[in-house]
Amino acid sequence: MSRQDQDAFGHRAGATSAFPAPLPRLPGVDHTVTLLRQGYGFIGHGCDRLGVDGFRARLMGREAICLRGPEASQLLYGAEGLTRTGAMPTTVLRLLQDKGSVQQLDGEEHRRRKAMFIRLVMDPGRIDSLRRGFEAAWRAELHPGLEVSVLDLANSALTRAACHWVGLYPAPADLRRLTRDLFAMSDRSGHFGPSTALALWRRRGIERWLRREIAAVRGSADAAATPLAIIGKDLPLEVAAVEVLNLLRPIVAVGRYVAFAAKALHDHPIWCGLFRSGNADFISDFCEEVRRTAPFFPFTAARATRDLTWHGATLPAGSWLLFDIYGTAQDARHFPRPQAFRPERMLDWRLNDPSFVPQGGGDVATTHRCPGEAATLALMESAVRMLCCEMSYDVPPQDLSVAMDRIPAQPASGMRIRVQRID
Ligand code: HEM
Repeated sequence: MSRQDQDAFGHRAGATSAFPAPLPRLPGVDHTVTLLRQGYGFIGHGCDRLGVDGFRARLMGREAICLRGPEASQLLYGAEGLTRTGAMPTTVLRLLQDKGSVQQLDGEEHRRRKAMFIRLVMDPGRIDSLRRGFEAAWRAELHPGLEVSVLDLANSALTRAACHWVGLYPAPADLRRLTRDLFAMSDRSGHFGPSTALALWRRRGIERWLRREIAAVRGSADAAATPLAIIGKDLPLEVAAVEVLNLLRPIVAVGRYVAFAAKALHDHPIWCGLFRSGNADFISDFCEEVRRTAPFFPFTAARATRDLTWHGATLPAGSWLLFDIYGTAQDARHFPRPQAFRPERMLDWRLNDPSFVPQGGGDVATTHRCPGEAATLALMESAVRMLCCEMSYDVPPQDLSVAMDRIPAQPASGMRIRVQRID
């Protein structure tokens, strides 16, 4: 069997999934250092070592049940008796979703808040206006001779587009600061130390600014139906600021996927040629394969609120579950030759494949699945179209390696390009 038939962690195509009861323990006392060293590979390596799809480990002094595969994804995105509250380390929670956000709600309260996000983020007209704003901001930054990393270019264009789309119009210097700070929220989420503390402190400043902006919109009789006004009308000020940030931050985070897409275009130039010669229909398949292969969200976490029986194993109330988002999409049993970049797989988030859950899975209205998948795809497709069909660039020598112990990962250089011509 060739290496191509195995996934990044060495699983072989055709092997069966396994959740023995009770789930085995990973040898060792505490596995936090192993997690930091192995990064995205932690759950996959542990499963392979034990020959299972689920095991027990100790992380940051806490018992964890680590799971991979489609059955586990259906558990984390569908089962009753699970909550996201108390499931993430405080810095991760505070930098990403934060207290009071939709992700911290359960049951009916979650469904009501989620419905608001679905109305705002999944509406085709709103997605189109976000996409057009992104394209205009991207084009405005380009000129022949410009040397820039695609990550920086996308971050900056996405920040401007996200602000305008939400209903905010910061001055150019403030936009530059916002680009840095919104990017840092996801970039520092997998880290600890002074830079994480600084990112948290800056986030508090942005929340204060958002509260002022929301209060101003509330006081205005002729406020347009922007996300800022809609969220501000429905929710208490503190919570509204957190939820507006829950739009701005992840839109800017799409820049990381755009950088991975630009790297994939560079690694597999045949695709750019194809798109340039009028076969733009395949851009969506290309972007979905980027989402499968790009290491972004490594795991998602949940806590059992009552005793659960699952595959014959008892998961007692309070159990901390970690699900391997990235590793599940690299598994040779579900994606033959997983290390090969193959847009021909024709992946599509709408098909609800529980093995392909880069932004969560299940029913978007009732689970914690991301409501931003359609918007993410639209923005990635725009970036790929602009890179391939609206400009020519060369790629200077640089370090394009992707360190799998850095969470979230990125091409080391951010994928630098030198713009030659704008068509
Ligand atoms: C960079 C691309 C993105 C990635 C990798 C991503 C990833 C994810 C993941 C994995 C979850 C599920 C978390 C869990 O299981 O608890 C999630 C939830 C969420 N995402 Fe995204 N997301 C992205 C883009 C977006 C966009 C563009 C938006 C909005 C404009 C968005 C808004 C949200 C919200 C509000 C939730 C919470 C949903 C809930 O708890 O019901 N995301 N995202």
